[in-house]
Amino acid sequence: MKILVTGGAGFIGSNFIYLLLSERPAWKIICVDALTYAANIHTLNDAMKSENFTFYKEDIRNRAGIDAIFEKEHPDVVVNFAAESHVDRSIENPEIFLETNIIGTAVLMDACRKYGVERFHQVGTDEVYGDLPLDRPDLFFHEDTPIHTSSPYSTSKASADLLVQAYHRTYGLPVTISRRSNNYGPYQFPEKLIPLMIHNATNDKPLPVYGQGLNVRDWLYVKDHCYGILAVLEKGKVGEVYNLGGHNEKANIEIVKTILAELGKPESLITYVTDRKGHDLRYAIDPSKAMKELGWAPTTMFGDGIKLTINWYREHTEWMRECTSGEYMKYYEKMYHNR
Ligand code: NAD
Ligand code: DAU
Repeated sequence: MKILVTGGAGFIGSNFIYLLLSERPAWKIICVDALTYAANIHTLNDAMKSENFTFYKEDIRNRAGIDAIFEKEHPDVVVNFAAESHVDRSIENPEIFLETNIIGTAVLMDACRKYGVERFHQVGTDEVYGDLPLDRPDLFFHEDTPIHTSSPYSTSKASADLLVQAYHRTYGLPVTISRRSNNYGPYQFPEKLIPLMIHNATNDKPLPVYGQGLNVRDWLYVKDHCYGILAVLEKGKVGEVYNLGGHNEKANIEIVKTILAELGKPESLITYVTDRKGHDLRYAIDPSKAMKELGWAPTTMFGDGIKLTINWYREHTEWMRECTSGEYMKYYEKMYHNR
């Protein structure tokens, strides 16, 4: 089996690569990543030591470059993690989200059609379903919940999903899509809530909570998510969408207070700042289809996962330093100064 993983130098893609190296040691893994600000090539240091791992620095929008990789490698399966993934950045600059998340996905699928693959898997998000009200805990996102997006990011991901389904219906491309809510764990870039709060708390900097911190997200430990994607590849039905989740809903303020308590830092570091524009209220996944049809279920409860995550960041200060030097400080200043 030869699997091509795009976006493998980012958060979830790298965790997926490490899962494959340990769980499917005979598979050949081809990683394609443009190494944007969100990537850290050192994340893949251990993978680079494996003879079953090959890395290409390439942009999924570059048709000639992508075709050349397919021509050389002829992958059996493609899993597309490559994306612009941060909602706040999409509010500042939507265009790159449309280019990478929509056009990039089309370029990859065109290569899949040209060279032939057994499966194209699109890593999607539950943000395509919009949000749920805070006072209706009985409501969840199902696979047939209508697409109803809020941000340029979620709109670009929804557009990509629709394109994937169009390539299946029109060209018969063998596709699957998984949709997931918020992941947390090792190697997540510190622009996202959990690593940003760990980084700031560790350095005794203010913790910027948007609005009143009451928005709810449904958290999944990244390794559980990666097992879910593997289950979709091996047991999923072509043409289908699978929601992956584990009923771990938490309000943002609860997460922030948990991080402070774990790190032994005071709650006085919490600073309430201007809310995100169009801020989605609540995400909550119904994962029963994946559980029933794939036999998949997450195994890491949030209380354990957050401890594993905090310990990982404590032990990887050099990795965090690489991510937060240079460009990151400019981004942080722009997003949070006087907010
Ligand atoms: P990330 O931002 O950490 O990593 C994205 C990776 O893609 C980076 O390595 C980056 O260099 C690469 N990339 C970006 N543009 C590229 C391009 N044009 N060509 C090639 N490579 C490019 O993202 P993540 O959090 O790992 O998310 C991975 C996927 O999962 C995304 O599609 C995202 O929408 C989806 N997702 C993320 C979450 C989450 O909580 N993080 C939840 C659900 C779905
Ligand atoms: O639902 C899946 C999505 O989860 C993925 O598709 C996205 O790629 C991923 O970034 C994530 O989107 P969110 O917007 O939910 O994640 P983020 O970490 O940016 O924010 C989580 C919550 O925390 C959200 O309600 C906004 C809030 N927040 C975030 C930051 C960065 C703050 O209060 N302060 C902050 O500084």
